[in-house]
Amino acid sequence: MDDAGWPKPYRIKVVEPIRLPEREERERLLRAAGYNVFNLASDDVYVDLLTDSGTGAMSQAQWGALMEGDEAYAGSRSFARFLETVRGITGFPHVLPTHQGRGAENVLFSTVVRRGDVVPSNAHFDTTRAHVLANGGRPVDLPTPEALDPDLDRPFKGDMDLAALEALLCDPPGRIPIVMLTVTNNTTAGQPVSMTNVRAVGDLAHRHGIPLFLDACRYAENCFFVREREPGYGNADPREIAGELFALADGCTMSAKKDGLGNIGGFLALRDRTLYEKCREKLILVEGFPTYGGLAGRDLAALAVGLEEALDLRYLRDRIGQVRWLGERLREAGIPVYWPPGGHAVYVNAGRLLPHIPREAFPGQALVCALYLEGGIRAVEVGSAMLGPQARLELVRLAIPRRTYTQEHLAAVVEALCRIRDKAREVPRLRLVEGEGPLRHFVARFEPIV
Ligand code: F0G
Repeated sequence: MDDAGWPKPYRIKVVEPIRLPEREERERLLRAAGYNVFNLASDDVYVDLLTDSGTGAMSQAQWGALMEGDEAYAGSRSFARFLETVRGITGFPHVLPTHQGRGAENVLFSTVVRRGDVVPSNAHFDTTRAHVLANGGRPVDLPTPEALDPDLDRPFKGDMDLAALEALLCDPPGRIPIVMLTVTNNTTAGQPVSMTNVRAVGDLAHRHGIPLFLDACRYAENCFFVREREPGYGNADPREIAGELFALADGCTMSAKKDGLGNIGGFLALRDRTLYEKCREKLILVEGFPTYGGLAGRDLAALAVGLEEALDLRYLRDRIGQVRWLGERLREAGIPVYWPPGGHAVYVNAGRLLPHIPREAFPGQALVCALYLEGGIRAVEVGSAMLGPQARLELVRLAIPRRTYTQEHLAAVVEALCRIRDKAREVPRLRLVEGEGPLRHFVARFEPIV
């Protein structure tokens, strides 16, 4: 039993060795990486919380399916199974497989967005934002004001601000080709979106003749929160909730590296046949033939299984429970965390943990470095290093890969953060020495100011 009293829904059959390098080695490696953990080799990381994307463990059923993958160029039976699964979950009749989420975004946005268009969202993820921009559009984030308060305990801080959407729709500064909702909302600390909000956003958009699209990569986790927190869903099966969610939308982009429980993959699913035909043409150009898209048949086979497993209530309880366990332990230890914990990650409020570091000296990145030095732990900054001056909070994301780490690994993360808390004033400020532009955080180099 874990802390929540639920039995663990799996045991470990295959293990991957990891190691914690010695402290001096970590210091040397971090220096060589330019104080940017994206430059570290995975072999030099003990607990890797950089992302939950494509880093999870597949089940025995998925590995079994992989062996049965049909690699035919056209008409692969693995695609047929994948199609049936995605149709069964989403109800969308048309499905285009892509190599990952951004492949689906590329196909969709290059088809629907024209120069001068405006695309509202509860909050765009980096790649959807970049695709809207790349096609001459303007991405607009309309998060609920609740999302901006890191301490406010509310069930659905991922919601869209309905009043702001209505104002935008009534007086649009450009054509609005689609409205998007990211479920759960990665950019606002992995917070869920309520079914009530999805319905209201869909009603508003449809009243203006605009389709609603979901960025659905963590939709199963969102459905779990709806079940837990939204009146009327207490006994519902996550799959039924998912059916209701997708029924409110006209299509979705999906990174199956998250709630598809795959290491690679994604899809674009659509209700409208005309739009599907246009997107299919684009898909052939940039991804591949429509029955494999950007994927091997074996990937499609494994995803067909993973997509089902991710809706299993016992799996979701364990998954969300693990993230919550980490958030609660950190909070008890006096580590400031964005509250409540999200579906896939806990976000540490580095601005508050390291108050002696001003924004210009990157408190989040400083904490990311301290975490590696203290525990060999790799996290990601979501603050001034990533977002520049538009960062509203200085956060560090601890993203939990699915079915991968044990409570002991997460306890090591809590311990490392407690040690950092006790000597917070010793954590050095950083100076940016290399890297510019919106994607600078991937390649930037820093140095400590001593
Ligand atoms: N949408 C959201 C909400 C995401 O979080 C991601 C990826 C994507 C789209 C793009 O999917 O990576 O398969 O092309 N998020 C990862 C992360 C990278 O670490 O949060 P992709």
